[in-house]
Amino acid sequence: MQFEDVINSRYSVRKYSDRPVEEEKLLKILEAGRLAPTAKNMQGQHVYVVRSPEMRKKFNKDWAMHFDAPIVLIIAMKKELEWISHFSKLNRGETDAAIVTDEMMLQAHALGLGTCWVGWFDPEKVKEAFYIPDDETVYNLLPLGYPADDCRPGPLHDSRKPLDETVTFL
Ligand SMILES: Cc1cc2nc3c(=O)[nH]c(=O)nc-3n(C[C@H](O)[C@H](O)[C@H](O)COP(=O)(O)O)c2cc1C
Repeated sequence: MQFEDVINSRYSVRKYSDRPVEEEKLLKILEAGRLAPTAKNMQGQHVYVVRSPEMRKKFNKDWAMHFDAPIVLIIAMKKELEWISHFSKLNRGETDAAIVTDEMMLQAHALGLGTCWVGWFDPEKVKEAFYIPDDETVYNLLPLGYPADDCRPGPLHDSRKPLDETVTFL
């Protein structure tokens, strides 16, 4: 797939098939996260791959959207490797986590897999269930798997503002 096709055809997958994800594809997706740029190249990401039946069943819809995907990636950052911007004081750990997540999302789609970026979860419950240490911040969940045959883009998918609302040429 050309990069443009990846960008144009990706959508959030909220219904998954049971088809297992090949190890080779999973490793390529994780590799995309490994190669992601991070502030000062600090590489503070810690990606948890939740895929064993015992671990998957710990997910609870009351505190985390997961769409029963065969794999859920948890994207955490080691707190000591979260860079605070000099001027703005913004925490770039969150930015780094977003880039890692996005690169894995796009690589997954390029390999024919689906994902849905999930921000709707209780980080404390996730940390407790999956033994994530206190010196890490959990930023994103990324359900991952083959889309179900009847999976379709959600209602918001086609709604994008035109460039003249989001870009200013100076
Ligand atoms: C930071 C962030 C958080 C999101 N959280 C959720 C979520 O908790 N649940 C969900 O179903 N989708 C979530 N999404 C997916 C967006 O709703 C989706 O990307 C947007 O509506 C555009 O649709 P599309 O991805 O199909 O193009 C999130 C996306 C981002 C970038």
